[in-house]
Amino acid sequence: MIVRHQLTYTTTGTHRYEEEVSPHAVDNTTNRSANTRSVQRSADPVSNRAVGSRFMTNRRTPTSLPIGGRPAYEVMADLTDRRSHDVKWADGRTFGLVFDGGEDVREVAEEAARLFFHENALNTLAFPSLGSIQSEICSWTADLLHGSGAAGFLTSGGTESILCAVLAARDRAKVERGLTDPVMVLPISAHAAFHKGAHMFGLRTRTVPVTADWTTDLDAMNDAVGPDTALVVASAPQYPQGTVDPVREVATLAANVGASCHVDACMGGFVLPFAEMNGCTTQPWDFQVEGVTSISADLHKLGYAPKGASVILHRSRELRKYQTFDFDGWLAGRYITPNMQGTRSGLPMAAAWAVMQYLGIDGYRRLVNTTLETADSIRAGIRAIEGLRVLGDPVHHLLAMSTEPTGEDETRRIDIFALGEALANLGWHLDRQGPPPSLHMTVSAGNAKVVDEFLTDLSAVAEQVRGVTAGEAGQYATLE
Ligand SMILES: Cc1ncc(COP(=O)(O)O)c(C=O)c1O
Repeated sequence: MIVRHQLTYTTTGTHRYEEEVSPHAVDNTTNRSANTRSVQRSADPVSNRAVGSRFMTNRRTPTSLPIGGRPAYEVMADLTDRRSHDVKWADGRTFGLVFDGGEDVREVAEEAARLFFHENALNTLAFPSLGSIQSEICSWTADLLHGSGAAGFLTSGGTESILCAVLAARDRAKVERGLTDPVMVLPISAHAAFHKGAHMFGLRTRTVPVTADWTTDLDAMNDAVGPDTALVVASAPQYPQGTVDPVREVATLAANVGASCHVDACMGGFVLPFAEMNGCTTQPWDFQVEGVTSISADLHKLGYAPKGASVILHRSRELRKYQTFDFDGWLAGRYITPNMQGTRSGLPMAAAWAVMQYLGIDGYRRLVNTTLETADSIRAGIRAIEGLRVLGDPVHHLLAMSTEPTGEDETRRIDIFALGEALANLGWHLDRQGPPPSLHMTVSAGNAKVVDEFLTDLSAVAEQVRGVTAGEAGQYATLE
């Protein structure tokens, strides 16, 4: 099934996306085909878009395991070589995907990871260390998010935390309100993981537009929420343009019908609390807001822990129970799991615990300060370039760069995807997203060291690509 989004601007300045759902499996017009072309074309040795195809063309793909095994040094050399074609996140040239808190933070994480490399949180009776690690991380996070009484679990990432929230909302609505055909109401800006959750757990989705400032259109949400609603979604901030939804109003709409309200703070959970401590205030968005029933916050993003760690919190233990699975009807005993996994690596849990302990409140405040200053400099630099703009007015670490209309002069016009390609050719990784066509940047502390270099390159490539219209969209996530 293919879903196309068409962006239209209404007279009220609302950004409305029309969904066209096609049952056909082949589509020649969506980003998917453009992306395929983009990957096939990308044999350019300096383009970091070209990772997939360069890798494939330079290497014979083995079709079976080596019979006698290979020497360890050769295996490591092979892996090192493969890695050399990846984006250069440690150089600060990647705006998203990897978030680097610095060499010292990485060392702490790696040391903890080595200690817990083989541990398994499937059974915390066997590994009480991991039980305590999970419960301490959840308590610290609840404390940051004003959740006295909140309870949660660790998951492998933002998507899994969101899946848990969707499942919990569905089952709560079924048990407490007898809903058998539950609906999720969410803004078009909400992360794709919510749609994945709806798909997996059998909820219908009702998507509402965003206003001119790229936050949820509350009138449309008011119309969409009803007695059939199990879950209403807000983001703090949303990924595409980095703006924070009006959580208080969204949570009230949810509470009015007895629905759950999830705040997706996968990006902001370890930024907004520290930004607030540093004096950058936001409207209340966490458990301070009555009606917010669950929050996701990713440690493996701006928590500066390595991949595989996120927190899902529910307002109470009572609400948390709806996401767990407890089964005793087979031949090997009680199987009770907190999230989507069975066997759970202890590595990301211990690494996240160590990073949090190492940084403490002061360390996070410092990293957040650096991050937000860097994002502000980037926004100012973008706005200073003729024909470029930042969508909306994000004040945290995410932003979308787009183009300004430049009047009649086509030769001055910037194609934003052509700009993205030109930046990629210089080793800068920005997602070419849409609709509307724009370049996404998630800024983190690791980008601070290259902000001047980035703005110099941006200004230069903006001149180079004026009048060029060959840019193609990128892809947020991939299969193989
Ligand atoms: C706001 C938001 N929610 C959820 C996710 C999904 O997180 P993950 O990629 O860890 O599954 C992301 C990822 O960038 C995000 O930005």
